[in-house]
Formats: sequence, structure tokens, C-alpha cells
Amino acid sequence: MTDYLIAPSILSADFARLGDDVARVLQAGADVVHFDVMDNHYVPNLTIGPMVCKALRDYGIQAPIDVHLMVKPVDSLVPQFAEAGASIITFHPEASDHIDRTLGLIREQGCQAGLVFNPATPLSYLDYVMDKVDVILLMSVNPGFGGQSFIDGTLDKLRQARRRIDESGRNIRLEIDGGVKVDNIRAIADAGADMFVAGSAIFSQPDYKAVIDQMRSELAK
Ligand code: DX5
Ligand code: ZN
Repeated sequence: MTDYLIAPSILSADFARLGDDVARVLQAGADVVHFDVMDNHYVPNLTIGPMVCKALRDYGIQAPIDVHLMVKPVDSLVPQFAEAGASIITFHPEASDHIDRTLGLIREQGCQAGLVFNPATPLSYLDYVMDKVDVILLMSVNPGFGGQSFIDGTLDKLRQARRRIDESGRNIRLEIDGGVKVDNIRAIADAGADMFVAGSAIFSQPDYKAVIDQMRSELAK
């Protein structure tokens, strides 16, 4: 059986009491904390950096932290996030001048490394680095904001990514980010995803556990 991971995006959490909100969502059964970093340059929004990641660790958050870098340039933030307690660091290949080097840098820092694909970014960026990625993250919305609708064409792209992973014989996570809800998570899993980022679907509801339980029961079908 596939071990599915649910990764709430803290972009939709309450930033005024972030530590409590992250602890609450983990208590509710989340597996991984998805940490969206936006620089108002690569994407038109501005969020949080390594200091906030470190603050969550200092607060006692022990779950894996999955840092999604929507920044350009990328490399200077990698050691800072590794130092701040990141577990996974993913970046957009268009934002790095040297994709192979950036992947190597992330792994040298002791983190898992991944590439992120915008809806119109081709999977061919994987061609020469399949042995250097631990995670492939497909965006099912254009990056920058929570609360957008899932772009259906991503399902076919997920199937293609799943095929590449199976052919590689490597243990690579296939993560999906954007517009994931209780009512589409099963179809997304059927297309090959095994790690699900969900921001607004979880944090907009008063009972996080109820949403996460519903997602898990869809995944168990
Ligand atoms: C968008 C971010 C996502 C976002 C997902 O650029 O990468 O992680 O928070 O939010 P929802 O689940 O609301 O689409
Ligand atoms: Zn994200």
C-alpha cells in the first residue's frame, strides 16, 4: 500500500499565532509542514524566510518541514534553510542558473532535494538529474497564492511524472500543490501523487482533524 503524506501549507495558517496553529494541524494528523517561501520577485507575493522556520523548530515543531522556495536566486537561501531546520528543500528550475549545482547543494546540506514544475513547465527539466532528486513537486495552480482552483491538465502531467519515477526505479516522492481538496484528492492519487499539499482546504475549516480524516478516508478507498 502506498504511504500517502498530507502536508498542510502554512500559507493559509494564522501567522499571528503560527506555532500554535502548526502544532494544532500536526496534532490533527498532518505528516509534514509545507512552508511556502515567496520573494515578490519570482512570484508576486511575499511570505516568510529562514527565521520563521527556525522559530518553528525552537517552538518544538518536530515534523518534517518541506520548504517550497518560490525565490530567485535560489542558492544563497539553501544553507540558511538547512541551518534553520528544513527537511526537504524544493525549488523551481527556471529560478536557478545551475540546476544540478543547486540540487547538489541542498543534499550536501543534509536535506532532501526536489524540483518544482509550474503548470506550463516541462518535465524535461528532469532529464539529466533524475538521480539527484528526492521529490518531484507538480504545481496544480500558478504559484503565488493559496485558494486557487486545481488545473485539471495536471492530472495527465502527474501520470507522466509517475511513469518517469517508476522507470527510474528510484524512491522519489511525487508531490502535488494547489487546489487539493477532499473531493479531488482521490483522483489526484489515482494519477500518481503520494504527497498532498493542502492549504485553504484545511486551514479554512474550524476542525482540521475532520478534513484530514476525510482526506485519508478518500485515500483509503
Ligand atoms: C501556492 C503555494 C501553495 C498554496 C496552496 O503558490 O505553493 O502551497 O499555499 O494553497 P491551496 O491548497 O489553498 O491551493
Ligand atoms: Zn507550496
